[in-house]
Amino acid sequence: MKIFMDTANVEEIRELNEWGIVYGVTTNPSLIAKTGHSQEDIIKEICQIVDGPVSAEVISTECIGMVEEARKLSKIAPNVVVKIPCIVEGLKAVRILSAECIATNVTLVFSLAQALLAASAGATYVSPFVGRLDDIGEDGVQLVEDMVNVFRKYEFDTEIIAASIRDLEHVDRVMLAGADIATIPTKVIHEMIEHKLTDAGLKKFLLDYENSKK
Ligand code: G3P
Repeated sequence: MKIFMDTANVEEIRELNEWGIVYGVTTNPSLIAKTGHSQEDIIKEICQIVDGPVSAEVISTECIGMVEEARKLSKIAPNVVVKIPCIVEGLKAVRILSAECIATNVTLVFSLAQALLAASAGATYVSPFVGRLDDIGEDGVQLVEDMVNVFRKYEFDTEIIAASIRDLEHVDRVMLAGADIATIPTKVIHEMIEHKLTDAGLKKFLLDYENSKK
């Protein structure tokens, strides 16, 4: 499972990119709004840092507007992926963009049926929102697992990005479910490296090394 960063914070992306673990980035209008900068400026900067796919979301809710926005966004850098909401107009836009070889990430996916429609329209990626399903008492990870099984069975090329990841348990469970990618908030990526036994073990190794020199 590849790790994408789910943030529009350029400093965070620059820092974690040095770890060598960032395969891509996803943003959305809420994350861009937090930066106080324009989407174009932020996406341009992220694409200078990260070679992999960088998702930027459209604001239009009509097919023609989405397609126009997508064409502009895709000109920012070759690795831009256009995020399209999972609505009827979005499906129409995905079909057109797919024919133009513009990569798409169908977002706000909450059911297997929506995932099938997005993949059928030619989406490059689909993003099931794990945490938001949990928020309404459903099992978000189960949707990811079901999507993995269905996409494998019917041999869809569309990749599954587990999104709305909130904690380490989500990361572990979507990995076990077979998600192609998890897009993870920076805070949770920092938690992924932590283990008290690593810290204790390292402390002991260094202490033993120091003592051996005496
Ligand atoms: O990738 C989608 C993500 O940004 C939404 O996360 O925590 O707002 O549900 P959240």
